[in-house]
Amino acid sequence: MTKTLIGKQAVVTGGTSGIGAAIVQYLQEEGATVLTCARSSKEILPPGVLFVQADLSTIEGTQRLAEQALATLGAIDILVNNVAATQHLFHAAGSMAIEDTAWEQALSVNLLSAVRLDKALLPGMLARRSGAIIHISSGTARVPMPAMLHYAASKAALTTYSKGLALDVASRGVRVNMATLGMVETPGLDRDQHDIAQARGIDIATARQAALHRIPLGRFGQPRDIAELVGFLVSDRASWMTGSNVVIDGGLMPTV
Ligand SMILES: NC(=O)c1ccc[n+]([C@@H]2O[C@H](COP(=O)([O-])OP(=O)(O)OC[C@H]3O[C@@H](n4cnc5c(N)ncnc54)[C@H](OP(=O)(O)O)[C@@H]3O)[C@@H](O)[C@H]2O)c1
Repeated sequence: MTKTLIGKQAVVTGGTSGIGAAIVQYLQEEGATVLTCARSSKEILPPGVLFVQADLSTIEGTQRLAEQALATLGAIDILVNNVAATQHLFHAAGSMAIEDTAWEQALSVNLLSAVRLDKALLPGMLARRSGAIIHISSGTARVPMPAMLHYAASKAALTTYSKGLALDVASRGVRVNMATLGMVETPGLDRDQHDIAQARGIDIATARQAALHRIPLGRFGQPRDIAELVGFLVSDRASWMTGSNVVIDGGLMPTV
């Protein structure tokens, strides 16, 4: 560890599981003070990590997180919008079977929580002419699966939003970047594979093997792989990067 983030204050959403938990741990190891949130604190966070219980599907939850983050950390240097609605994503009957409530949930958690949190925390960054924001997207935004079209469309909207925000704030010292992920071994991915296996009448091991065969590098991503990328993007080593959308997927996406 190079401890490049000593003295930095970071907020990571959804840091009690999977990718968010790895990002929290990585930023802390690099020296940042880290605050995270979830609806419930199911997993044990590393000592020293600050926690706010908040449901980011609601305006109130997002406001509470922002207020408590500002009150506790003061100036915020890094914001990682990691949270997404990752339950019951797969609709075997296709996109027409995705209920209105699932569309609303996808848009409010995957898109609007980031928009709201950015709006709440950006003024401090802009005043100091310094800050780094990350949005976590998915390859499905570019190669949509009909069975989870609400998820794909919300992530595609997040991509466009992220680029536009980067253009808006670049001249005022704040960098905004995005990571577009392939399949990463997390509880979220386990749930997906369980649902897919059930819908196709196969066991989970077979579903996992089929997914694995599609990845040119021959393995699922690990949460730490994503944390390494995010750690780089928020550091001064990436000081000439903004508006970028970095694909990290073991070679899965077949497009340029
Ligand atoms: N894993 C993959 O293969 C993959 C692929 C592409 C993109 N991604 C993206 O990577 C990010 C993380 O995914 P993951 O697989 O690590 O997910 P995960 O294991 O399901 O973890 C999600 C985290 O977000 C929290 N969370 C969920 N809904 C929330 C809400 N409404 N308010 C506050 N916190 C909430 C969860 O805690 P609580 O449940 O306690 O709230 C948990 O801490 C997501 O943006 C996802 O779309 C993942």
